[in-house]
Amino acid sequence: MSDLNNKKIIVGVSGGIAAYKSAELVRLLIKQGAQVQVVMTLSAQEFVTPLTFQALSGRMVRSDLFDVAAEAGMGHIELAHWADLIIIAPATANTIAKIVHGVADNLLTTLCIASQSPLLIAPAMNQQMWAHQATQENISRLAALSSTFICGPAAGEQACGDTGLGRMEEPQTLLEHAANALLLSHSCSPERAELLKGKRVLITAGPTIEDIDPVRYISNRSSGKMGYAIAQAAINEGAQVQLVSGPVSIKSPQNAQLYKVRSAQQMHEIVLSLAASADIFIATAAVADYRPITKKTEKIKKETQNLTLELIKNPDILSDVAALANGPVTIGFAAETNDLEHYAIDKLKRKKLNMIAANQVGDTKGFEKENNELNLFWYKGSSETQDGVLLAKKLPFASKKYLAQQLIEHIAKTFCTQSSKK
Ligand code: PMT
Repeated sequence: MSDLNNKKIIVGVSGGIAAYKSAELVRLLIKQGAQVQVVMTLSAQEFVTPLTFQALSGRMVRSDLFDVAAEAGMGHIELAHWADLIIIAPATANTIAKIVHGVADNLLTTLCIASQSPLLIAPAMNQQMWAHQATQENISRLAALSSTFICGPAAGEQACGDTGLGRMEEPQTLLEHAANALLLSHSCSPERAELLKGKRVLITAGPTIEDIDPVRYISNRSSGKMGYAIAQAAINEGAQVQLVSGPVSIKSPQNAQLYKVRSAQQMHEIVLSLAASADIFIATAAVADYRPITKKTEKIKKETQNLTLELIKNPDILSDVAALANGPVTIGFAAETNDLEHYAIDKLKRKKLNMIAANQVGDTKGFEKENNELNLFWYKGSSETQDGVLLAKKLPFASKKYLAQQLIEHIAKTFCTQSSKK
């Protein structure tokens, strides 16, 4: 049976050319057995008529906050409580901004603010509007909320003739994200048993920064999203979480003990001081492999045609934790642009890890994005001798929040059944 069967879903349609695609989304949701209530903004009705959505959903479309007849049937607060999930597709820059700032001047934004249900947002707008700092700040604030999921936008040709990021994700993709959001909110419900209750989980996240001089540095594009989502997922499962993070611009999960660091050496020092008392260590950070041998005290001047920077290897935090006697269960990440499986298994063996989560990275993958895909590899027998059967599991493309929950559940079930230490 579908994960969406019998689920009560509000599909919010705001005013963009992609509104026509939401008709297909509603059709797919109904086909999966969901009960769908469509809520349209007034501008959405300039693109598609309510009658289309009424015919597909079998329900009167709601759009007016002050509709006496509709309110007599199910008031807007009741409707907000009714929903298991709210999807906004397309979500315009205007609607996104209103939700972020708590502007409840239409039925759709009022419902979002009055509901505790998960919210799935499918942005769709002109590429320049998407790239605008205001939109980016708003979307980051929404993405930071544990019950809000962002899907898209996709890149491509736009109705206005521009090309770039801003197209609404396809209805089939939204359907998969809707099911994931529901599963995730279910797995966070307070009634269920917490898989990591009483466990200490140590996580590294974000990039490290290796200073060259007072104004320049070496770093990478890690945003911390993957690591912070894992920290939140571990907290959801009852763990006590210590999060050692390089500089990022996202908010740390509430209840995580946050240790802010800058360089790989600082991260190494803090992690090693905490690792012995951790049950599980998850290394999500994109640690710089090398740092300049010396940090110049003054800005380097542009005096020569060529400039050679001499670099030295940073300590390998993950390997050092894995080598601890009676250390934590140790999970590494592998960020690869090619030969993912080959390099990931090599790291699993070489660093003597309990498990590795491999992800493809590149211009549009892995770093910074809201979504990712993970390939897990581990040995069934002892991780020390690594002579057991090599097992693999794919966690398909989904939001980092959902992947994090799946990863944590997998770690808990695979490594924490008897003793927490390896
Ligand atoms: O932060 P986001 O924008 O959400 O992006 C997520 C991510 C792509 C950064 C994340 O999913 C990821 O892949 N993290 C690992 C990045 C990395 O540095 O991979 P690596 O293959 O170079 O390193 C292998 C492992 O060794 C990693 O677990 C890393 O944390 C660890 N390591 C590496 C070097 C070092 N000196 N110390 C380490 O602990």
